[in-house]
Amino acid sequence: MTKILKIGLAGLGTVGAGVVRLLRDNAELIRARAGRPIEIVAVSARDRSRARGISLSGLKWCSDPLELAADPAVDVVVELIGGANGPARALVEAALDAGKPVVTANKALLAEHGAALASHAEVQHASLRFEAAVAGGIPVIKALREGLAANRIISVAGILNGTCNYILSRMQSEKLDFASVLTDAQQHGYAESDPSLDIDGIDAAHKLALLAAIAFGQVVDFAGVHVEGIRRISQLDIGFADALGYRIKLLGIARETKIGIETRVHPAMVPLKSPLAHVNGVFNAVVAEADHCGSLFLQGRGAGAGPTASAVVADLIDVAQGRDVPVFGAPIASLGARPSATMDKHRGSYYLRLMVVDQPGVIADVAAVLRDHDISLESMLQQGRSPSEAVPVVLVTHDTQEAFMRAALVELAMLDSVVEPPTLIRIEPS
Ligand code: HSE
Repeated sequence: MTKILKIGLAGLGTVGAGVVRLLRDNAELIRARAGRPIEIVAVSARDRSRARGISLSGLKWCSDPLELAADPAVDVVVELIGGANGPARALVEAALDAGKPVVTANKALLAEHGAALASHAEVQHASLRFEAAVAGGIPVIKALREGLAANRIISVAGILNGTCNYILSRMQSEKLDFASVLTDAQQHGYAESDPSLDIDGIDAAHKLALLAAIAFGQVVDFAGVHVEGIRRISQLDIGFADALGYRIKLLGIARETKIGIETRVHPAMVPLKSPLAHVNGVFNAVVAEADHCGSLFLQGRGAGAGPTASAVVADLIDVAQGRDVPVFGAPIASLGARPSATMDKHRGSYYLRLMVVDQPGVIADVAAVLRDHDISLESMLQQGRSPSEAVPVVLVTHDTQEAFMRAALVELAMLDSVVEPPTLIRIEPS
């Protein structure tokens, strides 16, 4: 029998248990595709006694994950602990120090320390793979890094966080407000008890930073990603989006502009003609525009035991076959390090909602502010009529520069007739 590839697995949560199960369920076909058996020999997790629905008998138990890196019986370390620092980072560094290939699902670690870890992997001639870190079961890293390797990538845009997409989808389909969907999602285990990494856009930003590095051949720059979450999305905006022919989605967008790579995560008005508008629930999706290949649309499950384990094991099969690629698609010395483009230079069209008192002259005042900032309008919508309560006025702009929009917002908020901070949502693709 060809030499077994022996795995040391750190982290036995949902995904870790999924990897154990997948390697056992599909052992024969994985052996055939890898050219050799892939077997877990040692595991490490915080709680040995927790019920996981998998048998750990016959596997070495390591109370300290670093033992996996040092164990001569372990060929490859799989890191599923999570977190940008702490034991996950220590384990990955120790495994690379030992010259062992590493497979990880850790987007925070790669987004924040990707450049240093890629250098480390290169120096040690050890593979570092992270297909499971972005969009779970969708093979988007491989698609960009290998499948589209011959192309210049023009843009990558995606729904990269299932929790946000689930919340926004339910707000849209059931006419519920953000807080009640979030509470319900937490009660049913679809959202974390501390949901901030997801709903504030940070998880999507980690993933976008990795996609951008690969797509544009740049050193990963998480700090350069502009991030906004979905807490301020209201039922009112969901309803107006519907009336205007859009769906509100949390998008991660990376694209090349004249002043650098723009990377941003924010709620966006997505036109119904875009496939992204129809990706609902916990699903993730990515659209890549490539110069020779054209447009590519990938959709699938971005989280969960099966899809994430599928990505981890695909990386293990590559390792078993000795297929190696530079961590971000090109050797670290040939990656660019251009500063990311700043949002004040962003150009696009905008949805602007104002809550105004319903009296003569209000629209003229609003239009004057926009005119003074060289902002041209495409359409305007006012709903309801009430002499005593504020009414919403929605304006859709033509393409303009974000700095102009921001300056106009400050002045609009100061008008006596505008009674709430204005809501601004970018329209994509711009
Ligand atoms: N929490 C993420 C999501 C999955 O909701 O999509 C892991 O990144």
